Amino acid sequence: MKTIYLDNAATSFPKPACVYEKLRTYLEDYGACPGRGGYAMARQAGSVLEETRCLLAELLGVKEPNRFIFTLNATDALNLAIKGVLVPGDHVVTTVFEHNSVMRPLNRMEQLGFIRVSRVGGSSNGLVDPHEIYRALTPRTKLVAVVHGSNATGALQPIESIGRLVRQHGALFLVDAAQTAGAVPIDVHKAAIDLLAFPGHKALLGLPGTGALYIGSRARLAPWREGGTGIFSELPLQPEVMPYAYEAGSPNTLGLAGLRESLRFILRYGVAWVRTHELSLTEYFIKGLGRDGRFVLHGPSSLKDRIAVISVSLQNVSPAVIADYLDRYYGIAVRAGLHCAPGAHRFMQTFPEGTVRISPGYFNTLEEIDTCLQALREAADQLFENQVRVESAVPERNLLPYAKAGEAY
Ligand code: ALA
Repeated sequence: MKTIYLDNAATSFPKPACVYEKLRTYLEDYGACPGRGGYAMARQAGSVLEETRCLLAELLGVKEPNRFIFTLNATDALNLAIKGVLVPGDHVVTTVFEHNSVMRPLNRMEQLGFIRVSRVGGSSNGLVDPHEIYRALTPRTKLVAVVHGSNATGALQPIESIGRLVRQHGALFLVDAAQTAGAVPIDVHKAAIDLLAFPGHKALLGLPGTGALYIGSRARLAPWREGGTGIFSELPLQPEVMPYAYEAGSPNTLGLAGLRESLRFILRYGVAWVRTHELSLTEYFIKGLGRDGRFVLHGPSSLKDRIAVISVSLQNVSPAVIADYLDRYYGIAVRAGLHCAPGAHRFMQTFPEGTVRISPGYFNTLEEIDTCLQALREAADQLFENQVRVESAVPERNLLPYAKAGEAY
């Protein structure tokens, strides 16, 4: 049975053919350490990093490619931003829809008493009102952290309106673009973004182990990884010049060679085309399932407020059981559960079991969506009447207390 991969929100699969080809070339022809030698192979490896930064700059409307710091993934980039910017006494505004990669660093700093955090909710379909964010700002607010496209609800937040208000106040605006970089057009200047964190392995169609943080000119971050940079080696401290201020040690050149190739691939067609394709699959799915009253579709009803992340529940049937049915009988790969975004699920009242998440991507087709719809209907026929349920592996009482929307500490 051929896998129908519909878990692109976790990581995209497959990658463009040119990525696989480039990896082989890299390993066979120029796998030296970039920036650590003057010989031709090292220079060629170095050009992988520089060209990848230039392609990211082109994609995101940035003039200075050195403002992109390569990281392991979006989580790594978010940690660099959050821990680099905040100092004791700071206040942060964020939303209840954030992934654990934002929630957990903030929760920990809050628990230690270093910072105060306000968490803003949204409308019933998961959209944040920019004015709610604005109302939560205080004179001590240093950072506003917002997820662009939710990996749990599929809501696309109005970052341009939020960014304008945050800039008016003077705080820094951090956007988690884990689900949107490469899938939704982003212009960091139009949205007044100071820090943009994103992975290379999701909609940018690159490899795992790649990601980046864009650092705008208003942001000042404490050093993160300190160590060898290949240049300025005489300095006793990490150089302040970008990107070396935040990049140390031998980089993931193989992964970045793959990312360079996938960025070229995406730029050939443009992100607007990717968005049109993914939304047409999303619309087809929603229309197809919307007629079946046994299912609940979560998230915004309007396509323009959505990304290609579709969260579905079947009343009284565990999401894990449905995902297992799809995998077992149809070879369909989807992710069930909380998607590392428990706040979003509490908000949708799908906590603690979560939802079944279908996330089509660049290479999916309408035929595959049709098969998924058929499989879901069949699963409902089999499971709905029997009300199959499994107990959650994580009893709610073991979880940390959850801050209510708008609550500040
Ligand atoms: N954060 C990724 C997801 O949503 C892994 O599945």
